[in-house]
Amino acid sequence: TGTNASGAHHFPGMRNDLILRAARGQQTERAPVWVMRQAGRYLPEFRKLRESHDFFTCCRTPSLATEITLQPIRRYSGLLDAAIIFSDILVIPQAMGLTVEMLPSKGPHFPAPLETPKDVARLHKRVDVHKELGYVFDAITMTRRELAGEVPLIGFCGAPWTLMAYMIEGGGSKGFEKAKRWLYDYPEESKELLQRIADVCVDFLVGQVKAGAQLLQVFDSWAGELSPAHFRTFSLPYLRSIASSVKDRLACSSTQCVPMICFAKGALGHSLSDVAKAGYDVVALDWTVEPAQARKVVDAAMPGSAPSKGAGANEAGHRVALQGNMDPSVLYASKEAIEVEVEKMLRSRKGGFGGEGAYIANLGHGITPGVDPEHLRAYLKAIHRYSREINAE
Ligand code: CP3
Repeated sequence: TGTNASGAHHFPGMRNDLILRAARGQQTERAPVWVMRQAGRYLPEFRKLRESHDFFTCCRTPSLATEITLQPIRRYSGLLDAAIIFSDILVIPQAMGLTVEMLPSKGPHFPAPLETPKDVARLHKRVDVHKELGYVFDAITMTRRELAGEVPLIGFCGAPWTLMAYMIEGGGSKGFEKAKRWLYDYPEESKELLQRIADVCVDFLVGQVKAGAQLLQVFDSWAGELSPAHFRTFSLPYLRSIASSVKDRLACSSTQCVPMICFAKGALGHSLSDVAKAGYDVVALDWTVEPAQARKVVDAAMPGSAPSKGAGANEAGHRVALQGNMDPSVLYASKEAIEVEVEKMLRSRKGGFGGEGAYIANLGHGITPGVDPEHLRAYLKAIHRYSREINAE
C-alpha cells in the first residue's frame, strides 16, 4: 500500500544523504550541492514540456511535477545531491483564495490583488491544505518513490512577507511600494495577514514532510526590500514562528524532524545573526555576504556556544549550517571563470566555506533562464572537485 500502520509512507533507503548530514551541522567528505530553480527554464527539456502544459497545470499534476523535478537529476546524474519539488511559492495565495496566473514573459499575475485591508475578507477563513494543496503532497510522494533513494527531496514554501508582497502588488514589482505602504499605514492589519499566511505555511510544510519531504526551505526572496526595523517587525517573527511550530508539530506527530533552511535574501547584511538564531538548521546566504565573515557571525550569534554544544550550536544541538552563495550571473561567464569563482568561494585567502563541514553549496539565488546547462555542469563539477581537494588537505 505504500503506507505503514501509523499512516506514514515508507520509501526506499537513501543512497546519498550528504545534504542531510551537512544540514545537521556535520562534516561531510565533500560539500553537497543543489541549485535553486534547478528545475526550470534554462533546461530545454523543461521548455519542451511547457509548450504543451500551462505552468500551474504542471504544478497541479503530480506526474508532471515529478517528471520536471527529476529532469535535472537525470541530466546531471551523480552531480546533484538533492532534488527540490517542482512547484511555486504562489500556490499558498491560491490556496487562500486568490487567483494567480503565470503570464508568458511577464511572470506571476494576480487579476484581483489585495488593495486595502477590507480585501482580506476575500481570503478563505480557514485553509484546509489537504484539500487545496493535496496535489503538492501527492507530487512529493510520487517523486520520493521515483527517486528511489538516489538523493533527498526538498520541500518548500514562500515566507509570509514575500507572499504578502505578491498578494498586494499583484505580481513582481520593482520597489514593492504598495506592499510596503501597508506596513506603514496598516501595521496591525499587516500583522494579522502575515499571521494568517504563516499558519498556512506551517500546515503546508508539515504536510510536505508527512508526504515525504526530507528537508524544507522557506523562501523570503523579498526580505531585502525591508528596512532593518521592518524586517525585524514584519518578517523575522514569522520566520521564527514557522520554524518552531513546524518542529513542534512534527515532534508531536512523531514524524522524524527534518532540517529546515531559511533564505532571507538581502536581509543578512543587517540581520545575519538574528536569522542564525531564528531556529533553522541552515542559513542560506545570497552572494552579497562574505563566506568567512558569515561563518564567524553565525558561530558568534549562537547562545549554544556552551562547550557541550560547541560554537554555533542551535536548539537541535548542532552547529548552524550555511548554504550558498555564488552569484548566479557567474554562470554566464566562461567555464574557466566559473571554476575560479567556485574555488574562491570554497577557499579564499580570507577563508572560504570549504573544509569545515556544516556547508551546502548552492547559488546565492535561483539559476536564470538564459544560462547554458553545460555551464551549470561546470559549476557542479568544480564544487565536487575543489571540495574534495580541500577536505583532503
Ligand atoms: O527550485 C526549483 O527548481 C523548484 C521550483 C521553484 C519554482 N519557483 C519554479 C518556477 C521554486 C522553489 C520557486 C520559488 C519561487 N517562485 C520563488 C522563490 C525563489 C526565488 O527565486 O526567489 C519566487 C519569488 C517565485 C515566484 C515566481 N514564480 C517568479 C518570480 C517566477 C518567474 C517569473 C518570470 O517569468 O520570470 C515564477 C515562475 C516559475 N517558478 C518558473 C519556474 C520554473 C518559470 C515559469 C515558466 O515556466 O514560465
